[in-house]
Amino acid sequence: MKTVKIILCGCGGVGKEFLQLLADRGEELVAKYDLQLIVMGAADLKGAALTNSDEGLPVAELVTYLKDGNEVQNFPTFGKEGLTGAEIIAQGNADVIVEATPTDLKDGGVAKTHVFGAIEQSMDIVSANKGPFVLFYEELFKRAKAKGVGLHISAATAAALPTLDVGLICLAGTRVLSAEGILNGTTNYILTQMYVNGTAYDVALKEAQKLGIAETDPSYDVEGKDSANKTLLIANRVFGQTLSLSDVSVQGITEVTPEDIEEARKSDKIIKLISEVKVEGDSFKLSVSPKALDKTHPLASVNGSEKAISYDTDTMGGITVMGGKSSPVGAAAAMLKDLINAFVSK
Ligand code: HSE
Repeated sequence: MKTVKIILCGCGGVGKEFLQLLADRGEELVAKYDLQLIVMGAADLKGAALTNSDEGLPVAELVTYLKDGNEVQNFPTFGKEGLTGAEIIAQGNADVIVEATPTDLKDGGVAKTHVFGAIEQSMDIVSANKGPFVLFYEELFKRAKAKGVGLHISAATAAALPTLDVGLICLAGTRVLSAEGILNGTTNYILTQMYVNGTAYDVALKEAQKLGIAETDPSYDVEGKDSANKTLLIANRVFGQTLSLSDVSVQGITEVTPEDIEEARKSDKIIKLISEVKVEGDSFKLSVSPKALDKTHPLASVNGSEKAISYDTDTMGGITVMGGKSSPVGAAAAMLKDLINAFVSK
C-alpha cells in the first residue's frame, strides 16, 4: 500500500469538505486504490494543526471540530497558534500540498508562497486556488518541471467539471482546434433564474451566495473574471501556451437586462456567459462574453450552477462534457480526484 502525506493549506469551505471526504472515504480509497492519504498538517491564515506521527492527524475529529466553528490552531493536542502553512511546507515532511486558501489575484497571496515553497521541497501540488497559476504560470511550470513536481489544478479549472482531464487525457493525440465553455456556476445560476423564473438579478446573486458557490468578492463571478481565469488556465494547459490574463477579452453579465433575456427568448435563443479559446493561424483568441445561443447549441441546455465544456478536434470531432455543479464539495472532490490520479501509479 502506498501512503501519501498531505499538507492542507486553507480550512475554509473547500478545505473542510476535503477533510470530510478523507474522513468518510479513507478506507474505501485503501481498498480501491491501495492508497492511504494522511494529513500531516492543516493550516489557515491564523495557525495550524501539525503532527509527525505516521498516522497523520485524526481527520474525522478535526473536521467535526472545524465544522463546529473552531479554529484549527486550537485543535486539542495538535493545534499551534501562529504556525503558518509556509513553515509546515518548509519542514518538507509531506509528498503533496493541497492548496485551498482563497484565490488572490493581486499578487497570489499566501498561496504563492505555498506553491513555490512546495516546489522547492519537491512536493506535488494539488490546488483549488487559481491565483499563482493565473499570475505566474510560466515560471511555476518551468520550476516544477525542473524539480519533477506535478501541478494538478482540476479544482481551479471548473472543479467537478473535468475540463483538463478531458482536454489532456481523453483527447490525447488529437489537435484541439477550439474550446467553448460555461465555466462559472454563479453566473449560469443567475442567468438561468432570470430566464426560467424571471428572478431579479440581485436576488439570484444572493441565492448563489447562499449556495456557497460565489467568490468571496462576487464581482469576480459577475464581471467574468473567474471565467477568464479558468479560460486562461485551460488555454495554457490544453493548448500548451504561456498566455496571461491580458490576453483574455472579458465581459461579464452585469449589463445583461431582463429585456435582453426576453429578446433572446423571442428568437428561441438563450443567453449564456461563454468562454472561448480559438486558434487563428499561429495566434490564440481568448474571450469571455454573454452570448445568445440557439437552443440547439450543445451549451444551451446547461442550467443552474452546472457548467460545461465543448472541445472541437481534428480526429475525434466535437466532444462536450456537461454537469459538474459548482459547490465546495465538488471542488474538494476534484482535489481528491487529482490526488488519486497523481499518486495511484507513482
Ligand atoms: N465562483 C465559482 C463559480 C466557483 O461560481 O463557478 C469557484 O471557481
